[in-house]
Amino acid sequence: MAFSERAWFSFWACLVILSSLTVSALSGNFYQDFDITWGDGRAKILNNGELLTLSLDKASGSGFQSKNEFLFGKIDMQLKLVPGNSAGTVTAYYLSSQGPTHDEIDFEFLGNLSGDPYILHTNVFSQGKGNREQQFYLWFDPTADFHTYSILWNPQRIVFSVDGIPIREFNNSESIGVPFPKSQPMRIYSSLWNADDWATRGGLVKTDWTQAPFTASYRNFKADACIWSSGASSCDSRSPSSTSNANAWWLSQELDSTSQERMGWVQKNYMIYNYCTDTKRFPQGLPLEC
Ligand SMILES: *[C@@H]1O[C@H](CO)[C@@H](O)[C@H](O)[C@H]1NC(C)=O
Ligand SMILES: *[C@@H]1O[C@H](CO)[C@@H](O)[C@H](O)[C@H]1NC(C)=O
Repeated sequence: MAFSERAWFSFWACLVILSSLTVSALSGNFYQDFDITWGDGRAKILNNGELLTLSLDKASGSGFQSKNEFLFGKIDMQLKLVPGNSAGTVTAYYLSSQGPTHDEIDFEFLGNLSGDPYILHTNVFSQGKGNREQQFYLWFDPTADFHTYSILWNPQRIVFSVDGIPIREFNNSESIGVPFPKSQPMRIYSSLWNADDWATRGGLVKTDWTQAPFTASYRNFKADACIWSSGASSCDSRSPSSTSNANAWWLSQELDSTSQERMGWVQKNYMIYNYCTDTKRFPQGLPLEC
């Protein structure tokens, strides 16, 4: 091989290696990771898989789900919610397993009249039982831009975060008899639908259909997670597709003191409902984990 040929060969070899690196770095692709499950064309994957939009009109909402099932993970998604008068609409973004004793970890965004605050509603179901709502206002307008909503789920705890700031922690309290989601794999689901019988000011404000279609957008999905497939976890060292547990730092992640302070700030200033302090609702005594 002449020198120039060799030089060209290494140049092309480098390009091939670089482009394959780029492909794995861009792994958050909606075509690759999600299926649109309902809405008859109202859900769309755009920009080569970088953007997904859901829409809602009087006839129907729409939704999607992940192709993979996960058993533990740190899952991030950026959402930009329905702008303007979104009263009556609900954008749900959650993890759920299947069946009557399912586990579920929920974010739900309850729309509002223009200029009035969205409510971020959260819940945790274990073994089919929920009733663990906490609700928050946000410290920004969630319709003006994309923000990151994250779920950390490991065997010790579940942490909900917004733009990296933890807003809620649900600890594993199995030692005092509270079931914790840790054996049923879950998929990611999202949907946009009409819930004007309860969503906005408890159902007082109805959806204004002259504003339809309503649209919510998604981008930058990232899952550092154990993928569940054919009864085995990718985090199990015996699995052929094992991610070494050393890389799965989030499997034992906990809140450091800075994160706890930030969570305290959110809960003090933006929390508007906490089932753990609702003594009227639980006259026989608050749930054990509280
Ligand atoms: C969760 O457990 C940690 C200790 O492991 C504790 O500091 C924290 O307050 C607990 N959080 C809740 C919400 O109970
Ligand atoms: C909508 O705005 C009203 C008035 O500010 C507020 O009470 C309510 O919590 C807001 N959010 C929802 C989803 O109702």
